[in-house]
Amino acid sequence: MCDYDKDKLIHFPQHGDTRGHLVVIEGIKDIPFQIARIFYIYGSDSTVVRGQHANRKSEFVLVNICGTCKVKTNDGKGNTKEFNLDKPHEGVYIPKMVWKDMYDFSDDSILLCLASQPYDAKEYIRDYDRFIDEVGKK
Ligand code: TYD
Repeated sequence: MCDYDKDKLIHFPQHGDTRGHLVVIEGIKDIPFQIARIFYIYGSDSTVVRGQHANRKSEFVLVNICGTCKVKTNDGKGNTKEFNLDKPHEGVYIPKMVWKDMYDFSDDSILLCLASQPYDAKEYIRDYDRFIDEVGKK
């Protein structure tokens, strides 16, 4: 079982042979949660900033399976990190209550997002001041 308590880059094994590569992501084993939801983002470009929210319940792993993009995380306590996602066998783990921005998408970017919870708009915090306020109350 993996043990992650902070946002960090995860390297997935590549099962490559002469036919090409295959990457497996199993809940709990390769990432720290069971996968309840999958969505993917494409058709964004270098002018777009996506995300710009934090989640009260959902944890995520983001994998740019085609092209490149960047992800910035912010824990609301003065700690930020920037991740360059440019390999289909690397993903960034984002715990709950972390503000995230996704940006600098290449035209061919496909960003695969694995989430620990089904979609619930109410657990998204889309107002930055409110996020800082809720972090301060924890
Ligand atoms: P949004 O959260 O703004 O996307 P991003 O964080 O990538 O910028 O979601 C865009 C729209 O899609 C919004 O209307 C909500 C909807 N949506 C769902 O219905 N289910 C989901 O799982 C997600 C992630 C978004």
